[in-house]
Amino acid sequence: MPTDVAAVTGATGFLGGHLCERLLEEGWDVRGLSRPTSDRNGLEGVDWYVGDVFEDETLRALVDGVDAVFHLAGVGLWSAGPETVERVNRDGTATLLSACRDSDVGRLVFTSTAGTRRTTKRFADETDFAEPIGAYQSSKAAAERLVDRYAEDDGDAVTVHPTSIFGPGDDSFTPQLLAMGLEPTMPAYLPGGLSVVGVSDVVDGLLSAYAAGTRGDHYILGGENLTYDRAAERIADHAGGSPARVPVPSTAIHAAGPVAEVVDAVADRRVFPFDRRMARLATSELFYSSQKAHEELGYEYEPLEAHLPETVAWYRSTNG
Ligand SMILES: NC(=O)c1ccc[n+]([C@@H]2O[C@H](COP(=O)([O-])OP(=O)(O)OC[C@H]3O[C@@H](n4cnc5c(N)ncnc54)[C@H](OP(=O)(O)O)[C@@H]3O)[C@@H](O)[C@H]2O)c1
Repeated sequence: MPTDVAAVTGATGFLGGHLCERLLEEGWDVRGLSRPTSDRNGLEGVDWYVGDVFEDETLRALVDGVDAVFHLAGVGLWSAGPETVERVNRDGTATLLSACRDSDVGRLVFTSTAGTRRTTKRFADETDFAEPIGAYQSSKAAAERLVDRYAEDDGDAVTVHPTSIFGPGDDSFTPQLLAMGLEPTMPAYLPGGLSVVGVSDVVDGLLSAYAAGTRGDHYILGGENLTYDRAAERIADHAGGSPARVPVPSTAIHAAGPVAEVVDAVADRRVFPFDRRMARLATSELFYSSQKAHEELGYEYEPLEAHLPETVAWYRSTNG
């Protein structure tokens, strides 16, 4: 039987690295998109295509004849300004879709974010479209519409919406959450809460969406819904750390929103990656249901504790 071939954008990132490892373990041929400056360490066996999400020719070569395209490349407001975020997430997706349209491609699995869904009920699901807050959410929502149109026309595509991904190799959310449970120097936890999903569960979800998702459909890939104080407590219990005991007052975070707006206006550019609406969002309980992915894809997630041994070991090895 011929080997399945996958093209992965964002292959050098946190989620992309884990996905590539799994695909290689399962016997796929893996092509990865990498910028010239990307760190490709530790990903032996990937066939690299060097370029970015705006380079039409590189993308055409990357996707030509593959069974699966996993589109993970993206940027958030912590690492880039709003214009770059819009360009990479929305326009990069448009360029990739155009390459897929003109090539012989199997199914595309697009990784959006759960952040394009929100609810005033307890748990948001795929039908709870949110008014985007900030360039990250608006660019992901715009990219989703492009992918939906591609699936309606001539292409085959499915969109997944991971919640907050937790696991080794992440340099943003994971160390912040772990610090709340482990570090005596980090006495404060955030108000509100979120859905924490292990990176291996998201990789399972990506592969199930490829194999069993309905063309044009969307699936939330979430994990446990936890308040920050509960998450900090459980991390501390598991790893013998010292949980954050003092809540950061919501008012302090809400006050930081307008301050950030003023500084940005004075500096005439984005200095802080949030404004007052994002500040309010950061203190909410952003809880999600993965019921649809469970029923249609057989998606399962494990509790936080299942992901802690490997992730805490990684955190301790990188934070001395
Ligand atoms: N982490 C989460 O909690 C989370 C939750 C929901 C959704 N997501 C989505 O999942 C995807 C992967 O997230 P992640 O956490 O793995 O992010 P990450 O570690 O920051 O990786 C992002 C990847 O995108 C690549 N990239 C950025 N700009 C590019 C460009 N112009 N051309 C080509 N590649 C570019 C990066 O390449 P370099 O290595 O060169 O920087 C990297 O490989 C993203 O689309 C993100 O929005 C993440």
